[in-house]
Amino acid sequence: MEKVVITRKIPQQFVAQLESVAQVEMWDESLVPMPRDQFLEAIQDATACFITLSETIDEEVITAAPHLKIIANMAVGYDNIDINLVNQNGIIATNTPGVLTETTAELGFTLMLTVARRIVEAEKYVQNGEWQSWGPYLFAGKDLNNANVGIYGMGEIGKAFARRLKGFNTNIMYHNRTRHKDDEEALGALYVPFDTLLQQSDFVICTAPLTDDTKDKFNAQAFEKMKKDAIFINIGRGAVVDEQALVHALQNEQIAACGLDVLREEPIDMSHPLLALPNAVIVPHIGSASVMTRNRMIQLCVDNISRVFNQEQPKTPIMSN
Ligand code: GLV
Repeated sequence: MEKVVITRKIPQQFVAQLESVAQVEMWDESLVPMPRDQFLEAIQDATACFITLSETIDEEVITAAPHLKIIANMAVGYDNIDINLVNQNGIIATNTPGVLTETTAELGFTLMLTVARRIVEAEKYVQNGEWQSWGPYLFAGKDLNNANVGIYGMGEIGKAFARRLKGFNTNIMYHNRTRHKDDEEALGALYVPFDTLLQQSDFVICTAPLTDDTKDKFNAQAFEKMKKDAIFINIGRGAVVDEQALVHALQNEQIAACGLDVLREEPIDMSHPLLALPNAVIVPHIGSASVMTRNRMIQLCVDNISRVFNQEQPKTPIMSN
């Protein structure tokens, strides 16, 4: 008998699909991850697990789960999984590319405009009863029109972001591990070295996954190179940014503001200095959070698990690095 462990509560319509082919053990909370010790116990006789980015898949997990055939990660990023270890043990890992691309780009765009026009500060001002009159520079922000926008990480989400920029009269630059010459004309995006992107961009948008190459890419030296009125947006992974350096850059006006959907530690510690800065807008890792996209991500995980149980190829396997 197949057994699936699901580490968050997901809607019954999806659970039912798995229940028709397997025993299902599902954690009963949607906002709190399954505790690690419970996860390690549950997977002992599991043949599949449906996880989120809150679960780290390492040696301890693989050793605890000798019957595992598939790990379905409900995320496109998979830095929470030791993929070489998983594949070496003959286990298939899958992620959810494609279905979340447009939704995540929309969140990035929302953050960019929210920070540029100081929407969060302005809304708090109204709520606090501080609004007394119209002011010539009241919450004066920054234009996207005519701006240089630099995208770091030109994968599917970076490209979707660039497509959205086309209607906003911007100059698009990008930097990526590999150059996408074939897409440049359609996207209207110019490939530049990383330093040029930092030096010339009015908006720097990070969509990069976390890898050995991208870790701490936005460090003190990077922020020093950026324009003093630049806005930094991160919808990739938190550890691509040295957060102490970011705090320093914001406090010392090396850059103007930031918008972050991802943090090194999630959830953020409430004593984190970023939370005290009015020019930092932080949202709780909601890039792919539209109802339709979350449904699609869950369905893709269910499909991948069902296919592996049927000895078919999963739709979206993760390949070893
Ligand atoms: C979210 O960050 C994802 O990787 O899907």
